[in-house]
Amino acid sequence: MTRRALITGITGQDGAYLARLLLGKGYDVVGGSRPSPARDLWRLRAVGIDRDVRIADLELLDSSNILSVIERERPHEIYNLAAQSVVHSSFRTPVLTGDADALGAARILEAIRKVDSSIRFYQASTSEMFGDTDESPQSETSAFCPRSPYGVAKLYAHWMTVNFRNADGLFACSGILFNHESPLRGREFVTRKITHGLAAIALGQCDCIELGNLDARRDWGFAADYVEGMWKMLQGKAPQDYVLATGRSHSVRNFCEAAATAVDLDLVWQGAGIDEKGIDSRTGRTIIRVSSDFYRPTERQPLVGNAAKAGRELGWRSTMSFPELVRTMAEADLKLARR
Ligand code: GDD
Repeated sequence: MTRRALITGITGQDGAYLARLLLGKGYDVVGGSRPSPARDLWRLRAVGIDRDVRIADLELLDSSNILSVIERERPHEIYNLAAQSVVHSSFRTPVLTGDADALGAARILEAIRKVDSSIRFYQASTSEMFGDTDESPQSETSAFCPRSPYGVAKLYAHWMTVNFRNADGLFACSGILFNHESPLRGREFVTRKITHGLAAIALGQCDCIELGNLDARRDWGFAADYVEGMWKMLQGKAPQDYVLATGRSHSVRNFCEAAATAVDLDLVWQGAGIDEKGIDSRTGRTIIRVSSDFYRPTERQPLVGNAAKAGRELGWRSTMSFPELVRTMAEADLKLARR
């Protein structure tokens, strides 16, 4: 029997890679996406599957809409990837972020319980739930101490996933994913902002980019690896929560340096703090500035994950190294900018 999957947030980076993976495994894929006359399917086109998935209007803020989509589509698996996923924005829209990211997951879980409790559920949880935890690297047993409205909302959804599993016996898994990037990443996130910006600078299309904290550290992996982990979680014998991460952290500064090399800019740093600048040593031009607009109100602990449990129990591991990831993204952006 063909398995059917419903992916909420199918128009995002992870939605596109996951849909491609599931189609390759013979699934019938339904993509949930907010009703919009201007829905943009560019990522699905980029991975060559825009004609192979059905799109259903799905609004995380509306329980009755969620219920009717699940009743109509009767998926075997639901991957809840839809969210207000920009951490920085969540400080300005904490209530909306909570409604979509926290209650949205609860609405889906409640609908599963009503319609068919055998539907398997994946919740896109995040390393942002660890926030200011005192343990490093972070694993499934590390304490949660979120430092943003986004992290707080996601933590509610995580615990609801665990609770529906324990109280109602749902096959519900929470994947605690560290940052995962690709050429399909939105430009509001730092990695793509850097590769897109430096590629444009290298081709003379732009002068300079502005960044926030250059010393912020993240554990960056390749998104296509991570969707494989999502699928593996729902194929397990018993529902569990898993961290997916590379186990290595790099700074925003490291990312800029690797991206500059990939687009053939010779980046050197001058100054310190808010006055620090990235200079192209060949032309002497400033190509990176620091702006307080992109600093987070609260950010302390460098996030780096321990994915040993996923390795042991799911056979999952991240396959792309940091230099390879940066190069892949930068080369894709050079190609795009040349077009
Ligand atoms: N966005 C952004 N823009 N971040 C910047 C900038 C900038 O100009 N300058 C420095 N940063 C730093 C941020 O302070 C943060 O420490 C780091 O770069 C990464 O920021 P983002 O790329 O915006 O990602 P994130 O870590 O906040 O969150 C992403 O990963 C999470 C874990 O998977 C998002 O995708 C979340 O939705 C996801 O849960």
